[in-house]
Amino acid sequence: MHITKFFPKDLFADHTVFVTGGGSGINFGVAKNFAALGAKVGMCGRSADKLERASAELGEMGAQVFAQTADVRDYGALESVLQATESKLGAIGTLVCAAAGNFICPAEQLSPNGFKSVVDIDLLGSFNACRAAFSQLQKTRGSIVFISAGMSIIPYFAQAHVGAAKAGIDNMMRNLALEWGRFGIRSNSIVPGPIEGTEGMRRLAPGDLGKKLKKSIPLGRYGTTDEIGQAAVFLASPLASYITGTVLVVDGGQTLPGS
Ligand code: COA
Ligand code: NAP
Repeated sequence: MHITKFFPKDLFADHTVFVTGGGSGINFGVAKNFAALGAKVGMCGRSADKLERASAELGEMGAQVFAQTADVRDYGALESVLQATESKLGAIGTLVCAAAGNFICPAEQLSPNGFKSVVDIDLLGSFNACRAAFSQLQKTRGSIVFISAGMSIIPYFAQAHVGAAKAGIDNMMRNLALEWGRFGIRSNSIVPGPIEGTEGMRRLAPGDLGKKLKKSIPLGRYGTTDEIGQAAVFLASPLASYITGTVLVVDGGQTLPGS
């Protein structure tokens, strides 16, 4: 993988990364970049099929993997996966809060439960993961990486639910940086731009909308799952040892005013 040309292949030897929703898309790209640098990988998601496929691919890369189904809205289920991860792979050094849901719906048509579902998965689910992983992160003096979105920064049409959830995540990220710095725990977010071949882009910019969107991005293209994985690796690495409370925007300039 590209990342092994720039970082040592044993950077994360004896390091456990846990990725919520790690079985597909951007989050799986994050898991693969950590695995390429020697990390042990824990993951959860709702679908066993996705986790099995992802685990097999990570296993082929030589990674030790533990994956179990859990809905991030269910604190008890998440807690038991995180505990099992610690006993199988060792205490978590990097927690990636990345599980999310999204659909297009104008606010005047959105039901309260539709709004709640996205906030519960993205925001409450991220808090659940941080809270349940806290004792492990305290042991490792580890770090948290949240996968946010551009909706946290600027409003997007028909995305009131996602904007509320992701802005909540970024502010919680700063709170945790403030509160957990005393335990040596760092907390940062990544705001990915539109990423090629993902479920998110299938939902948000199908067909011709995608072509139009690409033209509006200063770098003129979608990003890749590896480009988000590389940013996550950097934030979790010793190169970022004094970085906490930061939102790292990896979007080809998409959210720049006027873009
Ligand atoms: N438009 C408007 N409302 C929608 C909707 C849509 N496309 N999809 C779901 N909802 C509403 C439902 O109608 C329901 O509200 P109601 O009870 O008032 O009718 C509410 O959202 C919950 O729906 P449900 O299907 O029970 O949710 P879920 O918990 O099974 O799934 C979602 C969560 C809705 C976010 C689903 O899209 C999902 O699982 N997404 C994960 C994958 C994904 O989104 N990937 C991209 C990440 S960027
Ligand atoms: P994706 O493949 O659908 O990723 C979402 C993952 O979360 C899936 O593996 C899904 O698996 C899991 N998940 C969803 N609800 C869950 C729940 N309740 N409990 C546990 N796991 C759950 O979509 P993606 O587009 O790659 O998005 C990944 C992340 O990047 C998200 O945080 C998204 O907001 C962010 N993002 C994406 C883009 C983009 O261009 N795609 C841009 C900006 C930000 P199950 O369905 O099996 O549970």
